[in-house]
This record gives sequence, C-alpha cells and structure tokens, in this order.
Amino acid sequence: MADLSTDTAGIHSPNPFWIASGPPGNSLRQVRLAFEAGWGGVVWKTVGGPVIDTAMRYGGLDVYGRKLVGLNNIELISDRPAEVNFAEIAKAKEEFPDRAVVISLMVESVREAWHEVVKRAEQTGADGFELNFGCPHGMSERNMGAAVGQVPEYVEMITGWVKEVATIPVLVKLTPNITNIELTALAAKAGGADGVSAINTINSIVGIDLDTWETRPSVDGKGSHGGYAGPAVKPIALHMVSSIAANPELAGMPISGIGGAHTWQDCAEFMLMGASTVQVCTAIMHHGFRLVGELETGLSNYLDARGLGSVRELVGGSVQRIGNFGDFDLNWQVRAEISPEACIGCGKCIEVCRDNQVDCIDWVDGTVNIGRIAKVDHAECIGCDLCSIVCPVQDCITMEEQPRVLPAMSWNQLNAEVGVPGFHAATSGITWDEFPDRVPALVDSHGLHNLGDGPG
Ligand SMILES: Cc1cc2nc3c(=O)[nH]c(=O)nc-3n(C[C@H](O)[C@H](O)[C@H](O)COP(=O)(O)O)c2cc1C
Ligand code: SF4
Ligand code: SF4
Repeated sequence: MADLSTDTAGIHSPNPFWIASGPPGNSLRQVRLAFEAGWGGVVWKTVGGPVIDTAMRYGGLDVYGRKLVGLNNIELISDRPAEVNFAEIAKAKEEFPDRAVVISLMVESVREAWHEVVKRAEQTGADGFELNFGCPHGMSERNMGAAVGQVPEYVEMITGWVKEVATIPVLVKLTPNITNIELTALAAKAGGADGVSAINTINSIVGIDLDTWETRPSVDGKGSHGGYAGPAVKPIALHMVSSIAANPELAGMPISGIGGAHTWQDCAEFMLMGASTVQVCTAIMHHGFRLVGELETGLSNYLDARGLGSVRELVGGSVQRIGNFGDFDLNWQVRAEISPEACIGCGKCIEVCRDNQVDCIDWVDGTVNIGRIAKVDHAECIGCDLCSIVCPVQDCITMEEQPRVLPAMSWNQLNAEVGVPGFHAATSGITWDEFPDRVPALVDSHGLHNLGDGPG
C-alpha cells in the first residue's frame, strides 16, 4: 500500500487530507471526531478578536437537482473566545500528536496585535500557523481578511510581522478575489512565508428569492456579498494553485490546495497541480467527517494501480503540462466518433453541433435502441469535443486522434515565419483579407490546413 504521509512547509501529516479552516474545525469536540475518522490534519477555524455571527449565514446553490454545488457564507471567524480555542487546540495536539494541527489567525493589522497572538498561540504546541488574509466578507469591512490579502504590500508586511516572532511554519492563505494571485504569493514569500494555502472563498451573491426579492442568505430581509466555496469553485482553485506552482520565482514554495475538493480524484488533481496537502470544508459540511474514508481508500488504490509508492510522487506532476496557446500544435487533429451500440438516439449531439459548431452530425437508420443513431461526418468535424461533453451516455462519443497528415505548426511559429496576423494592415503582417490567400502557401511550405472557414 502506498505511503500517504506528506507535509506542507514541514508540517507533517499521515495523509494529505486536512480540514480547512471553517465550521468543521471550530472545537475540540469536532476535531476529535475528525481525527478519529482519519483526517490527517486540521486548520482550526480562524482565531482572533470578538465577533458576533448572524442567524442565517449560509446560502446553497443547487444545480438541476444536485444539492450544494456551491456554498455561499457570511460567517465570520470563530465566535469562541481565543483562550477557549487555544486551550482546546493544545488538547487536540496532545491527544493526536501524529496529526497536523494548524492555527488560523486573523487580528487587526497592528504589529503588536500580531506579535501577541502568535506568541500566545505558539504555547498550544500547534504545528504551524495559517494567516487568514482571505475572508471576503465581514472581516474585510474591518480592514482584515481580504482587505489585507488584496494588497501585496500588506501581505508582505503582516507576514513579516508574524515571522519576526513565529518559531513554527507560517502558511499564508491567499484570497482568490484578486486579478493575479501570483503577486500576493510573491508578496507572502517576500514577507518570509514558509508556504501558501489557496484558495479562500470567492466573492459572490448566491441567489435571489423571486418572491421576496431578498438575496440569500437573508438576515431579516437584508443580504450581502459572501464567500463562495464548494465543488463549483474547484476549477478556479486549480488554476490559482497551478499558477503559483508554475511561477519560477515561487519554485519550491509549498502549497496547501483548497477549493471544492470533494472526492479523492479532486484531491489528486490538486496534488498534480502542485499542492502537497489538500484542505476540505464544504464537502464536510455536506457529508460529514466520514468522507475521509472514501478519500483515503480511493487515493491509495489509485497510487497502487499506478505503481506509485508515495502520494508525494503526485505533487506537481501536471504543472509542466500547462503551456501557452501559442505553442499548441494547430495541426494535431481529433474527430468525434459515436458508438452505434451505445447511442440511445436522444439527439443532443445533433442539436449542439448544429447550433454551436459545424452541423456535422446526422441521423442514420439504426437497428439498435430506438431505430436511429447519430453519426458524425468526419470530413466536417473540427474536433471541438462539445458533442461528447453533452452526450448523456458515458463513453458513447469518443474523440479519436487522427493520423498525422501535416507537420506540427504552432501560432508562434506562424508569427515568426510570416508575421503577426492581426486586424489592421498597418500593424500586422497578415490581415483577414490576406489570410486565406496565405494559407495555401502555408499549406505547401508549413502544412497549415485548418484555417479559413471556421464554424459555419
Ligand atoms: C462556512 C464557511 C466558513 C469559513 N470560515 C473560514 C475561516 O474562519 N477562516 C478561513 O481561513 N477560511 C474560512 N472558510 C474558507 C474555507 O477554509 C475554504 O478556504 C473554502 O471554503 C474553500 O474550500 P471548500 O470548497 O472545500 O469549502 C470558510 C468557508 C466556509 C464555507
Ligand atoms: S448525444 Fe449521445 S446518445 Fe444522444 S444521440 Fe448523440 S451520440 Fe447518441
Ligand atoms: S466534435 Fe464538435 S464539430 Fe465534431 S461532431 Fe462533435 S460537436 Fe460537431
């Protein structure tokens, strides 16, 4: 069985599954249950100054009957006194010495306040800190959370204050509510952070009640923007994690990945994008701590099936696969192939190809299912993949790689060899008017064959 143990910035845990700072990690009672279920670590619900939460603090997004695809919240940091949390954190670490216990912190942006909270929190014996520069609501209105995390200078400054006194690893939890998360990750590094966690919640309004016109959650008729999390945010989180992992100036920066992780596959994806641990909040709020059993079994089986001895071998495995459009081979081709045995004749692929792409799927008489099956005209198919994405039957439409006819040609090569294609003749080598004329020449000399008509 593969070794699931891993660490982030020297914070060791028996498996990569950590509870993200939030409702599931707000007390010793819960953390005991979580560790007994098998979670490898916890980032305790953010500890700081006094807050008072509202009743009604969550708004769920259901999509076509599937519950909680997204979760919006206007919850603040822990509403339990800091001393109560610290005493319970110390006990949790004492009872479960092999698990990662990280304390999330957020206090006012004053150097002495950070020094004081860090020194006090270290007495718990916790393994590390996570600085919450991310919450986009409530605390940010008090100049904390995302109000800090959106300004690289503040991120660097406060991380620096913490590092002046901290003797355990410091992770900086980054907000996604920023155009380029690499800038704040770089600022965290400049401030001395030992690692980063990404992402916190995304600014959002989750929905509006069409009877009352109140936004959700409604606090006695009033609403607000809140932080969005859950499965729907995973693609955004993966991108942000990967952009940190791929930045050469951040090479080697440990990352704890967060955002929409629900299944072992999600966790593996975060690790392939560069995270060495994965934090989970909404999925626990949906399914409870028992979820970790599925995560452990699934990931362990996956590693065994691939002959990998350690979960660490996944970390960053896909980062080098992220490139730029300009380098893609425009002559690499796939075509949609429909399995006549699997097609149930619903017509979905015909509709979407007709209305969005090139109208190259039609019925042929079939003896299978309802007597008609869909068939692709390969000469017209542009290999976009839309039909296979919408087909309700698993593996009914597959995208088949075509034999290579022409040598590789990228947009960057095209630019280098014939000039920069653009809209205006004065500023570009080739305009739309010239483009078709130039294509046959390119086909001859460079092998371009797929330009000109486009969808139509
Ligand atoms: C209800 C709720 C409360 C949260 N409270 C905190 C918090 O106190 N501190 C913090 O750093 N992040 C907090 N978060 C953000 C989560 O730690 C996490 O970054 C985010 O929810 C994305 O992960 P998920 O999709 O697994 O939920 C909270 C999230 C939710 C949903
Ligand atoms: S969407 Fe799939 S099942 Fe439906 S007609 Fe097309 S190939 Fe057949
Ligand atoms: S891959 Fe795109 S173009 Fe080809 S059949 Fe499917 S939808 Fe049509």
